[in-house]
Amino acid sequence: MKEGRIGIIGVGNVGSTIAFSLAIDNKCKEIYLKDIREDYVEAMSLDISQAAKANSSNTQIKAISKPEEFCDCQIVVITAGIARKPGMSRDDLLLTNSKIIKSVMSEVEQFNKEAIFIIVSNPLDAMVYSALKASNLPRTKVIGMAGVLDSSRMAHFISEKLEDKNVKIVAAVMGGHGDDMVPLVNYSTINGKSLNEYFTENEISEIIEKTKFGGAQIVGLLKTGSAYYAPGFSVSLMVEAILNDDKKSFPCAVLLDGEYGYKDVVAGIPIKLGKAGCEEIVELDLDLEQKTAFKKSINSVNELINVLKDNQ
Ligand code: LAC
Repeated sequence: MKEGRIGIIGVGNVGSTIAFSLAIDNKCKEIYLKDIREDYVEAMSLDISQAAKANSSNTQIKAISKPEEFCDCQIVVITAGIARKPGMSRDDLLLTNSKIIKSVMSEVEQFNKEAIFIIVSNPLDAMVYSALKASNLPRTKVIGMAGVLDSSRMAHFISEKLEDKNVKIVAAVMGGHGDDMVPLVNYSTINGKSLNEYFTENEISEIIEKTKFGGAQIVGLLKTGSAYYAPGFSVSLMVEAILNDDKKSFPCAVLLDGEYGYKDVVAGIPIKLGKAGCEEIVELDLDLEQKTAFKKSINSVNELINVLKDNQ
C-alpha cells in the first residue's frame, strides 16, 4: 500500500471538488482519478494539478482507466452514480446507484483489500450497505460521508440567523442522510453555549427543518444536479483525518452492530477516524425525543435496505 495515495471513482462535481480540496493544500501525495468519461477525467486531472501548482502543492494527480490501478491506494472514495434532479428524493436513485456501487466495489476490492472506502453516492446509507454486501470488507473500512455535510449545513443555518457572524459554531446531526436525519440541538453550540440562549423554540425548529432539506434546496435551485462544494470538502476532511490518524470524532455512516440498539442497518453516528478507518464508535446519550427521531430515521433506511434485498 502507498501511504498518501487516494483513489477517487466518479469524477463529477463532487469527485473533482474532493480532488481539488485535497490537492491545492498538499493534503496527500497522489490522487488517482477514474470516471467513465475518459477525456473528461484527463481534463480534470490536468486542471486540478495546475491549480495545485498555483499554490506550490506537490500533490500528483493522475487519470487512470483500470480498476487494478487502485491496488495501492490507502483510501478509495466512491462518488459514482447518478445525482438527483429537482423533484427527486435521494431514495429515487436507489436501484440504479446500488448496481453501480456493487460493480465498482467488487471490481476494486479484488485488487485492494487494504484500503479504507469512503462512500458518497446516494441514497447514502443504503449505498454503504450495498458496498459492504458487495465486498468482504469489515464495517470499519467502509464508511459513508454525510454527517459532516449535514452538520455543516446546520452550522450554516445557525449562522444565517445570528447577527454576530464572528462566533464558533458547533453543529451535530446524526441518523440517515435523508429527510429524517436527526439534528442534535443539545450537542450543538455557539461559542460553547446552548442554542437555547440565542434562539426561540420556533427559530430552532426552523433551523432543524432547513438543515433536513438543505440538500433539496440546492437541487431545486441548480435544476441540473445536486450540491458539490460542501459534500466534496466534507469528504476531504474525512480523508485528511484518516491520513493523519487523527482519531477525531466525525459524524459518518457506518453499519450498526448493536450500537444505539440497532443491528444490520447503516446510519450516521459519531465515529473516530484514523488509519484503520472507523476506530471507535461514540455512543451519545440521547433523550427520548432524539431516540424516537433516530428510530424513525433507521426505519426509513431499513425500508430502502429491504427494497435492495428484494431486488438482489
Ligand atoms: C446533498 C447530497 C450530496 O445532500 O446528498 O447535497
